[in-house]
Amino acid sequence: MSKENNFKWKVGEPLPGIEAHTERKLEVIEQYLDVYFDTVTANRRMETLRITIVDGFCGGGLYQRGHETRYGSPFALLNAVERAKTRINAERHKPLEIVAHFYFSDANALHMAALRHELSKSEFSEQVGDTIVLQTGEFEVLLPRIIADIKKRQRQGRSFFVLDQWGYVDVPVTCLQQIFSNLDKPEAILTFSIDALLNYLRTDGSGLEGLRQFGISEEFVSTWQTLKDDEKFGRATAQRTVMENLRKNSGAHFFTPFMMYSKTDKRWMLLAHLSKHQAARDKMLSVHWDKQNHFRHIGRGSLFELGFDHRLIESKESLFSFRDEDEVTLLGELENELPKRVMDNMTDDILTVEQLLSQIGNLTAAQNDMIFKVLQKLSSDGEIEVGKKDGGKKKASTRVEVSDILIRPSQRTLFTKF
Ligand SMILES: C[S@@+](CC[C@H](N)C(=O)[O-])C[C@H]1O[C@@H](n2cnc3c(N)ncnc32)[C@H](O)[C@@H]1O
Repeated sequence: MSKENNFKWKVGEPLPGIEAHTERKLEVIEQYLDVYFDTVTANRRMETLRITIVDGFCGGGLYQRGHETRYGSPFALLNAVERAKTRINAERHKPLEIVAHFYFSDANALHMAALRHELSKSEFSEQVGDTIVLQTGEFEVLLPRIIADIKKRQRQGRSFFVLDQWGYVDVPVTCLQQIFSNLDKPEAILTFSIDALLNYLRTDGSGLEGLRQFGISEEFVSTWQTLKDDEKFGRATAQRTVMENLRKNSGAHFFTPFMMYSKTDKRWMLLAHLSKHQAARDKMLSVHWDKQNHFRHIGRGSLFELGFDHRLIESKESLFSFRDEDEVTLLGELENELPKRVMDNMTDDILTVEQLLSQIGNLTAAQNDMIFKVLQKLSSDGEIEVGKKDGGKKKASTRVEVSDILIRPSQRTLFTKF
């Protein structure tokens, strides 16, 4: 069955069945939004949270799963906001108001009619036309207007984009650039059929114009065609090159790319989280660690390079899968790799933890807490000193925090090597 047939909605016709990887993807979005709302409302004095949620490839709203129905992305997003209102206010004396606006759109008019129909039967019916805007159209065409609306309505405030395209051409990088250069605190979850793109280029190197934005050049195609039979190394290298170009060209500072396998299509898909803040990347990683086994990251998780990573040639490392044993390996590798990274990036023998997190944020599957644990170990081994933000050194037995400062030790042990 082709992928398109799994996503066909028409009022009065049976719902499409849901596939395992679509379900995993929706679970990640739901779980991330729970973490997201808890994080952005952590300030107890906050009275109102303004947010705009955009689902640019929303589909018809419901799937069939056996005898049950399963919510698609628009209902998942609406429900996440309702859950947040209840959960957050359960612990507050002074209630927090979440003012959320939703833009749901899809290029297929039948899909939009199906979604409108399902919404009209739901508890959200009254919001349609008010805080829920439904539009038929290509995302690329609708986006400038959506951005203008957001800017008009909320001078400051958050926005969250779900860009669940089928293939790889419907979210051009210019769309990502518009989102990340125009809005205050945007985040996006993007799907990208990276293997569909590579499979196309296995045999065909023509028609590259629309693909150059992803770093696909004549040179890329000829390298990939030479390496394509080495499935593991060739594909991993090509995938990373595309990811690196997406990251570079998107304008988002943090790009967390992970892979999901579609059994129907027998290929890997990219699910990337894009944000401007290191803390948002850390929260997204917490969801990946929690959903261990469903997602893969290519190669080692400690410190890696997007694009071409020579270590893949040496080890042809297997996929990293966020299991407990992966965490042990990752912590061990970080202990070896971090000292050099920290020393190399110091200015006047100092590097703030915040700077370190920003520098390695795109290059590790480690959550901040794991990095802090390794820094504490390095401090107790005397390889590094940790200072408090308002002066004074921290004891090696004290937890490292984001506000701390890393200092080159006066008595260096291991570092004399570098
Ligand atoms: C993978 S499905 C979306 C599934 C949905 N997000 C969910 O979780 O239930 C992709 C959707 O994108 C729509 N689509 C295809 N090309 C588009 C474009 N250029 N702009 C907007 N929507 C598009 C399709 O009609 C289809 O409904």
